Amino acid sequence: MKFGCSLLIQSRCVLGFNKFPNLNRNLHIHAPRFLGAINQTQKPFHVSSPNWGRSRVFPVTCCSSSKPNYVAGYSTTLESRVNDKNFESVYVQGGGGLDETGESAGRAESKAEKDAWRLLREAVVTYCGNPVGTLAANNPGDKVPLNYDQVFIRDFVPSALAFLLKGEGEIVRNFLLHTLQLQSWEKTVDCYSPGQGLMPASFKIRTVPLDDTKVEEVLDPDFGESAIGRVAPVDSGLWWIILLRAYSKITGDFAMQERVDVQTGIKLILNLCLSDGFDMFPSLLVTDGSCMIDRRMGIHGHPLEIQSLFYSALRCAREMLALDEGSKNLVRTINNRLSALSFHIREYYWIDMKKINEIYRYKTEEYSTEAINKFNIYPEQIPHWLMDWIPEEGGYMIGNLQPAHMDFRFFTLGNIWSIVSSLSTPKQNNSILNLIESKWDDLVGHMPLKIVYPALELEEWRIITGSDPKNTPWSYHNGGSWPTLLWQFTLACIKMGRIELARKAVDLAENRLYADHWPEYYDTRSGRFIGKQSRLYQTWTIAGFLTSKMLLENPEKASLLFWEEDYDLLEICVCALSKTGRKLCARGAAKSQILV
Ligand code: GLC
Repeated sequence: MKFGCSLLIQSRCVLGFNKFPNLNRNLHIHAPRFLGAINQTQKPFHVSSPNWGRSRVFPVTCCSSSKPNYVAGYSTTLESRVNDKNFESVYVQGGGGLDETGESAGRAESKAEKDAWRLLREAVVTYCGNPVGTLAANNPGDKVPLNYDQVFIRDFVPSALAFLLKGEGEIVRNFLLHTLQLQSWEKTVDCYSPGQGLMPASFKIRTVPLDDTKVEEVLDPDFGESAIGRVAPVDSGLWWIILLRAYSKITGDFAMQERVDVQTGIKLILNLCLSDGFDMFPSLLVTDGSCMIDRRMGIHGHPLEIQSLFYSALRCAREMLALDEGSKNLVRTINNRLSALSFHIREYYWIDMKKINEIYRYKTEEYSTEAINKFNIYPEQIPHWLMDWIPEEGGYMIGNLQPAHMDFRFFTLGNIWSIVSSLSTPKQNNSILNLIESKWDDLVGHMPLKIVYPALELEEWRIITGSDPKNTPWSYHNGGSWPTLLWQFTLACIKMGRIELARKAVDLAENRLYADHWPEYYDTRSGRFIGKQSRLYQTWTIAGFLTSKMLLENPEKASLLFWEEDYDLLEICVCALSKTGRKLCARGAAKSQILV
């Protein structure tokens, strides 16, 4: 049988669609905006914003191959490297501190590392013979993989970093370009179309017979229309931008971010995030389950994780956007948003002993622009666990803020990524790590790291999760321990000069993850048991571990992946009110505007 490759959007693939209705699911394809493998009768898609004014030109991706799409023991071949001029320069300029044989310089790999590299390579997915991503989990014994046999955008980030740090940029480049193509799909769920810039949560490569002798490989994305609970993957586009910057920084291939289609992709994502709505706050308003926690967990509104990814994606975009007349306004908008967002989060999400005591004594029902208790938080809302739990030293960002509601739970990724992106001040960054250190037994225990602390129990669990049997207390998203969070933690620790904390966590995880076959998550208060429904051979567990190891070994590389405080941003206040002498500008009035 011969293989041909294309995106489903291509006209030939639309035929394949009709023939194989199971591929169609709830997603209706309208007139294709994207020309994948070129069909001359179709018009290329144009970005409509007058500011952008450039058409989006896509590379031809069609090819022939006789290779299966999941390749065990994948490795980048020299042929594919030299065939790609861009990659050649990448490979020459890039490269990690590790040698070509996979040995860390001057140190033999541990059993766990060897196993992890083998498994990571086995999880690689190819499209038209080229590596394009990694499966979420790769357990051959798993009879019901659900969507774990797909390439998830967020899950691929640690895989990408592991490959980049190893000096292998090709898979990341392919991933970025192929997911960019998927972004242009016109998607409709029950007659409603989400925004153009939406990136899929995941994609799968399907093999579709063309006739009796030929088959075709097609990329089949999931924008949430098949996902459990139909959750919108808001974080996908943000991670895509963050990964694009990491790719260029590590490989030195800055030509990639200058491509017209890549520039347009960045703008489409930003357009979605920066469009006007009814919002009163600079934080991004999302539905429940729009990020790593992709199930109902009471994180609708303005969850911290999305805000910290949003902040870092804005910082990345500002760095990568080509500066010209067309992007001037956009860059100004980004700067204003960055400034307002960091003020908002630093001022209103931060809690420590002192702040909790303030909230405890809050007056309520204050009607005025001068109100101290701006969000009308009733002190009775402070949970009992928190009064005992908050240490004298240290603090953290709460999970969410809405009128009369503070979600006091500690969400690990949001807090760690606030450190990495400098959404929080240097002082807050240190305080968050102090809190993790002093609450080690609760937040790390037997396996790093708790996704959220504490778990929702009893009536709260019933109402907030909708009685989700997978999210029972101290399991899965409800207080389970997720080893993939190790890489972000390691990055934050290196940034703050607390490398010993990261080492302690990695040492704790290494042998156990290997012996337990790399589970997706662990259960119980202290993370003692492999999760009830946890997948084994979970790729981002494996890749998160490898990335952490490599960052610890090459801490100088970590600086390519985090952001320092931007002091200029602190000066920006676009609010005209302060200039008119009226006292309505909250920022002007706030004492703790710069908490450095
Ligand atoms: C689960 C996780 C999600 C992850 C996916 C694939 O749905 O909640 O964050 O991306 O599995 O691993």
